Amino acid sequence: MKFLVTAGPTREPIDPVRYVSNRSSGKMGYAIAEAALDAGHDVILISGQVSLQPPRAAKLVSVSTSDEMFDAVHRDASKCDICVMCAAVADYKPASVSPTKIKKRSENVSLELIPTRDILDSLGHWHDRRFLVVGFAAETNDVEKNAARKLREKNCDIIIANDVSSAKSGMDSDVNEVTILFKNGERQKISRAQKKIIARELVKIFLNSATIMFDKKDVMISERS
Ligand code: CTP
Repeated sequence: MKFLVTAGPTREPIDPVRYVSNRSSGKMGYAIAEAALDAGHDVILISGQVSLQPPRAAKLVSVSTSDEMFDAVHRDASKCDICVMCAAVADYKPASVSPTKIKKRSENVSLELIPTRDILDSLGHWHDRRFLVVGFAAETNDVEKNAARKLREKNCDIIIANDVSSAKSGMDSDVNEVTILFKNGERQKISRAQKKIIARELVKIFLNSATIMFDKKDVMISERS
């Protein structure tokens, strides 16, 4: 099958030298890309700027802003069977980008931020889609309740909820602990483990769901014959 995976943070420029971003390391998305490749699948990895070595066999698309990530995802999504939106996309971007470096002044400054487009939501509501849509929910409180709301509102098939309140797991860490929420109301937990191990389990779950929900096995058989 063909995977599309987004990973890492986006950077929303303020001026030529400054940007708004977040602490995402990209480790979870890169681990999922690697696990899918190891299982013999094709991967398009759409990545914000991270300090990780991309898996050699992936088709890497490097992006910086949420708009670039949105466009890259929309270019390739319909060619894929499983879209995993692991990136920490900025929710807001500066209303305007200064073409020159903003100079220091002695008074307070405020930055006007406007909402970015929600990439996961746009895939979930894609008309007549034939691909599985997987989102992540990074939460610090009411983890499963907030994740269930995202699953419903963004019309995803699966949401992976992770608690990012602890420094020991989640963002920027090598380990994670996740709860998987399915559209049909089922839930499954993967207890604390290395992101690489969690990624392997997640890939199996995604393949199984895509096969059941979109009859993807038939697509593979007919492609081979
Ligand atoms: N996401 C996205 N585009 C955005 C914002 C988020 O595609 N502009 C995706 C993320 O890649 C992730 C999911 O939406 O798969 C949830 O992201 P998260 O940051 O947990 O939630 P938000 O929807 O941004 O809501 P909030 O920040 O209020 O928790």
